[in-house]
Amino acid sequence: MVKRKVIIDTDPGQDDAVAILLALASPEEIEVLGITVVAGNVPLDLTVKNSLTICELAGAFDMPVYAGCHKPLQRRLITAEHVHGKTGLDGPSLPEPKMQIQAEHAVDFIINTLRAETNKTVTLCPLGPLTNIASAFLKAPDIIEKVQQIVLMGGAYFEVGNITPTAEFNIYVDPEAADIVFKSNLDITVLPLDVTHKALVTKARNDAFRALGTPVGVAVAQMTDFFERFDKEKYGSAGAPLHDPCVTAYLINPDLFVGRHINVMVETASELTMGMTVADWWGVTDRPKNALFIGDLDSEGFFKLLTERLARL
Ligand code: RIB
Ligand code: CA
Repeated sequence: MVKRKVIIDTDPGQDDAVAILLALASPEEIEVLGITVVAGNVPLDLTVKNSLTICELAGAFDMPVYAGCHKPLQRRLITAEHVHGKTGLDGPSLPEPKMQIQAEHAVDFIINTLRAETNKTVTLCPLGPLTNIASAFLKAPDIIEKVQQIVLMGGAYFEVGNITPTAEFNIYVDPEAADIVFKSNLDITVLPLDVTHKALVTKARNDAFRALGTPVGVAVAQMTDFFERFDKEKYGSAGAPLHDPCVTAYLINPDLFVGRHINVMVETASELTMGMTVADWWGVTDRPKNALFIGDLDSEGFFKLLTERLARL
């Protein structure tokens, strides 16, 4: 497995937190060049604070964290406190972070990093609304061809929406940004609700986190204990869906996942279906196959990997 250089773009969020922890626990496969933060689950000041908190929890005190866009490209910000709590990281009580954010804006960090690194050696891993990524592409179109791959959590098809009847939250918050990313002609792997709703933190899996007995293991158990309420109530799920950690696990072991290369487009016109990812799963159009759309995973293997790696922190 070749070690990947990645930029994690995130809106923590408990599931973002677990995705970041898994990445920081996996230096053999992932070199995190920096964490760029976007408004999404909660406003930017809180997603920034949560990102710093998570880095400190992992002991990654030198990880550069960059504040990014505080609102979508064109729309007002929609947040998800109803899922993640007022702080965005409800569950554990973690100390106020002492780490400082970098002075550079997240969008400029993305641009400057892609310009500085060797072409096609940096993977972008968006875990929230795609505002930072699209803003970087708009500000510096020359960087688009320098991106190795985009591996993102977002969208839904057979699983349909979690914030509207048709749209998944990350895409819905900034559909114009998502449209730019999906039309970028880059190699995109999509981890949609179709697969993340199969990565559920059952009680046994939550107990395994807690049984690690470490500050990270206990905090992850407390995060997922809190985070599961929304999905249990709405879907009758067996536990919290670990949406964003599917991105990190895919980078570590893509064989845990199964998908199909298809066309995916984003609805940006109709308010009724705004932010829907229209996935041509059955190939009924001749639209370009612009995304690997993941539909399934080996959930036992996923949780085994996650728990083993969290034990390292
Ligand atoms: O719809 C799930 C996605 O929205 C996850 O990334 C979660 O963190 C929220 O950002
Ligand atoms: Ca997220």
